[in-house]
Amino acid sequence: MSKQPLIELRNISYLYPHSTGPILENLNFSTQEKHIGVIGSNGCGKTTFFQIIVGLLTPTAGQLLFHGKEIKDKNRMRDLRREVGFLFQNSDDQLFSPTVIEDVAFGPLNLGYSQTAAKKTAIETLAKLGLEGFEERITHRLSGGEKKLVALATILAMEPKMLLLDEPTNNLDPKTRLRLISILQGLDLHQIIISHDWDFLEQTGSTLYRIEDGHIHRCEEDHIHVHSHIHKAGDYPHRHGH
Ligand SMILES: Nc1ncnc2c1ncn2[C@@H]1O[C@H](COP(=O)(O)OP(=O)(O)OP(=O)(O)O)[C@@H](O)[C@H]1O
Ligand SMILES: [Mg+2]
Repeated sequence: MSKQPLIELRNISYLYPHSTGPILENLNFSTQEKHIGVIGSNGCGKTTFFQIIVGLLTPTAGQLLFHGKEIKDKNRMRDLRREVGFLFQNSDDQLFSPTVIEDVAFGPLNLGYSQTAAKKTAIETLAKLGLEGFEERITHRLSGGEKKLVALATILAMEPKMLLLDEPTNNLDPKTRLRLISILQGLDLHQIIISHDWDFLEQTGSTLYRIEDGHIHRCEEDHIHVHSHIHKAGDYPHRHGH
């Protein structure tokens, strides 16, 4: 049998206040595979699913298990957040310090590192992502792609075991997208990636799951693969009909 999954959701339901019905209902899921891709239409509850995993939302019903044990208190949730890094759909929600170095050092400082050690970790993490020289840049003035990579650095600086990435390739140009793929391929971490970018999911070796009608299921029927083709202005990730 496979090892104990890091995360398990049992019969999870979630109802937003003032909404007419639950967005997730009796959802069951566990991190069976190391690299998981989550697909589903806009508004089906993908981001909600991630927010429940990291405790930003408390499920209306059901259980969240971490290393096989139900999360019941704040301390255990803190342990989970230490191991599971969440890259937000919108980087502006993730970055809040004036400079890049402060943002990336924030997590390590929070974990109890000294100022010197936190700064060292931040500098090393930025370097690993090819962001040398970004340390003193003003965070809110970075481009969208730069913000995405800096946001990833804030997470990696805390040395998580698992990454939750919410539509990480959105608005990335082809070069930055390839850079992100190569960064992710170089990490030996569990990953759950929400994306509409099929080629990206394929290149990150993800087993596909779909959220639909409040449930999540593995896409046994889908076989994702990369096509090679040529046409004008095709140098960006895009999808074709069948
Ligand atoms: N705070 C909230 N209050 C009420 N409804 C909300 C709230 N946040 C999200 N929703 C609704 O819940 C549904 C699921 O939202 P969610 O952000 O999880 O979808 P998603 O699958 O991530 O969509 P997308 O692909 O557009 O990012 C949507 O219909 C959304 O409008
Ligand atoms: Mg979303």
